Amino acid sequence: MSSQSEKWDKLAFIHNQDREIASHAYMDLIAGQKTKNVQLALKLNLGSGMLIEVPYILRLLGDVRGKEVLDAGCGGGFYSLWLSENGAKVLGVDGSKEMIKIAKEKAARKMLDTRFLVGDVTDLRIEDSMFDLVLSTLVLGMKELDKAIRELVRVTRNGGDIVISILHPIVIAAYWERESRRKLFRKLDDYFLERELEAVWENEKKERVPHTFYHRPLQAFTQPFFEKGCILIDLIEPRPHKVYKQLNPREYEDMKRIPHFMILKFRKAPPSL
Ligand SMILES: C[S@@+](CC[C@H](N)C(=O)[O-])C[C@H]1O[C@@H](n2cnc3c(N)ncnc32)[C@H](O)[C@@H]1O
Repeated sequence: MSSQSEKWDKLAFIHNQDREIASHAYMDLIAGQKTKNVQLALKLNLGSGMLIEVPYILRLLGDVRGKEVLDAGCGGGFYSLWLSENGAKVLGVDGSKEMIKIAKEKAARKMLDTRFLVGDVTDLRIEDSMFDLVLSTLVLGMKELDKAIRELVRVTRNGGDIVISILHPIVIAAYWERESRRKLFRKLDDYFLERELEAVWENEKKERVPHTFYHRPLQAFTQPFFEKGCILIDLIEPRPHKVYKQLNPREYEDMKRIPHFMILKFRKAPPSL
């Protein structure tokens, strides 16, 4: 995990900025409010695809008051802080020291008692059955997927819920067919071939940070949960709200046409099931 977490250290500022400002801006725009976050997101040109999962995830999390919640791969703590503000007792774990630093600073500014730890989702070092709810958003496109799922299930109590979001396998396997660099249409092939892919992201210092992730068919994300006695209770392919066009006009049309993300909610079933 270490080389991956160093990459996330380099991306922490920019990822958190997008998640924090643009996610709030997106929610504010949906609510019909032109807040400071909206003005800032438009000014800074923020608004990545990950925004579109936010309203769906918050709805799926439901009433979290009094619940023990783990945010596994919490990044800069966007969801952890929302969970704390809504009455949950939250632990956020992330492999990147920079992400955890940002998350702790935000929690301190908001005077929230959210706990954050640097740790590995594939080896959580937390006792079994500690959490009523486990959340892991946009983390599981990793090599050690099975180990991570084993850990998420292990630390969830029987009857507790696990909410994950992933890049949709369809969008990962569907490459752009181009003509003189102009995007024509997406071409889907080799859906079943599991493979490592690389994307290069630029951070605020204009450093180009290579980032590896994995393509796997959808079943690779569901089967390990089923084998560990979990049942699928919700599956969402989020679509962009029309206000997303203001934040990311370039991606809006594509997002409307094919799914980019998938949200899954599992329940760890009691032994009798
Ligand atoms: C795309 S970000 C998502 C952050 C946050 N969940 C969100 O939705 O804003 C992926 C995060 O997963 C973390 N991560 C990746 N692999 C990890 C692992 N094995 N253990 C802990 N964190 C990991 C990265 O450090 C990064 O912060």
